[in-house]
Amino acid sequence: MAKLNLGLIGCGFMGRAHTNAHKRVADFFPDLECRPVLQAVCDVKEEAARRFAAQWGYASIETDWRRLLDRSDIDAVDICVPNLYHKEIAIAAAERGKIVLCEKPLARNSAEGEEMVAAVEKAGVPNMVWYNYRRIPAVSLAKALIDEGKLGRQIYHYRANFLQDWTISPDVPQGGDGTWRLDVQAAGSGVTGDLLAHCIDTAIWLNGSVNDVCAMTETFVKERKHAVSGAVQPVGIDDACAFFCHFANGSLGLFESTRYARGHKALYTLEINGTDASIRWDLHDLHRLEYFDHRDEGRLRGWRSIHVTDHGGAHPYMDRWWVPGLQIGYEHSFVHQMADFLKCYQSGQACSPNFREALETQRICDAVLESARKRGWQDVPR
Ligand SMILES: NC(=O)c1ccc[n+]([C@@H]2O[C@H](COP(=O)([O-])OP(=O)(O)OC[C@H]3O[C@@H](n4cnc5c(N)ncnc54)[C@H](O)[C@@H]3O)[C@@H](O)[C@H]2O)c1
Repeated sequence: MAKLNLGLIGCGFMGRAHTNAHKRVADFFPDLECRPVLQAVCDVKEEAARRFAAQWGYASIETDWRRLLDRSDIDAVDICVPNLYHKEIAIAAAERGKIVLCEKPLARNSAEGEEMVAAVEKAGVPNMVWYNYRRIPAVSLAKALIDEGKLGRQIYHYRANFLQDWTISPDVPQGGDGTWRLDVQAAGSGVTGDLLAHCIDTAIWLNGSVNDVCAMTETFVKERKHAVSGAVQPVGIDDACAFFCHFANGSLGLFESTRYARGHKALYTLEINGTDASIRWDLHDLHRLEYFDHRDEGRLRGWRSIHVTDHGGAHPYMDRWWVPGLQIGYEHSFVHQMADFLKCYQSGQACSPNFREALETQRICDAVLESARKRGWQDVPR
C-alpha cells in the first residue's frame, strides 16, 4: 500500500480528531490504495507537541510550521490551528507543492479565502476543507434522499440551529488557548464563522446555493479581558446570529446560532420541508434521521425515526463498521472524510468540499455579517 506522509499542524481538539481518523482510516477502508503515515506533528507549544507525538505515534515534531513545510518527507499538510493562521499556512504549503487539508472555516473572511483558492488552484495541489458533518451517515442519507427527489417537486423550507452556552459568563476571557474563538483577530467572527459555517456548508450541500440574506447579530458581553495581554478590550465577535435567506431553488432558509442558549452544548439541528416529505436531524442523536412522508397510508402516517445503521449499502458508510443496529459517533465523520479524500486522491478527483466550494460558505458568512452591520438584505456574491 502506498504511503501518504502527513504533517499535522496544531495538536488541540481537531488535532486529536484528525489524528484518530488518519490512524484508523486504512483499517476500516482496506480497499484504499494509500495509507496516511503520521510523519510529523507541529505545535508552537513544544512540550505539547512532544507529548502528542508520543501518545499518538508521530515520528517527529516541529514547533515552526515553516520548517514542517520545508521538509521533503511531508506530502500533505493538515491545518488544525486557529483561523488566523489558515491563509498563511495553506498558501505556503501550496507553493511548496503539498496537498492541503484545512480545518473550517476556510479563513477569517472571503478575501483571505479567495487568496487561498487562487494558491491551491495555481499550484494544482489536492485540497479539502473539513466540513465533517456531511459525512455523518444520517446526514449523507439525507443528501441521498433529497437528490432522489423523495421530498417532492419543490423544497419550501430549510432551517438550522447551532446552539451552545459556554460564553455566558463575562469572566471567560478572549484570546489565548481555548478562548481564541472570542478574539476577532484570531477567529475572524464569532458564531457566524465558527458554528453557522457548519450549518451553511450542510445547507448548500443539501439544498443548493443561497441568493441573499438578512441577518441580525448581537454581542451580549461587550468587553472581556484578553488572555494574553491581560487588558480589558472590546469584544469584536458576534455572540449570537440569526438570519433568513432565499435559496436559489426558491426555498426559504432560517438559521440561528448562539453561545448563550443555557443548557445547550452543541445542539446542531436541521430540518428541510418539501412538497411530499420532510427530513429532520439532530447532532445529539446523530445516528438517527427523522423522515415524514405524506404519501404514506393515512393510518400509519407519522414521523419515522430511522436508525442509520444498516449494512448492504442501504445506509452510507455503515458497511465499514459493526453489525446492523450498532451505531457510530462524531469521530467517524472525520474517518469517512479522510477515506473519501484518499479515494479521490487515488483517482485524481477533487474531494468535496474543496477550497473553492468552501469559499461559497465563506461568502455567505461575509454577507450575513454585512447584512447585520447595515441592517438590511445583502446579496451573496458568486
Ligand atoms: N470541523 C469541526 O467540527 C471543528 C471543530 C472544532 C474546531 N474546528 C476548527 O479547527 C481549528 C482548530 O480548532 P481547535 O478547536 O482544534 O483549537 P485548539 O485551541 O483546541 O487547538 C489549536 C492548537 O493549535 C496550536 N497552535 C496555535 N497557533 C499555532 C501556530 N502558529 N503553529 C502551530 N500550532 C499552533 C495551539 O497551541 C493548539 O494546540 C479551527 O480552525 C477551528 O475552527 C473545527
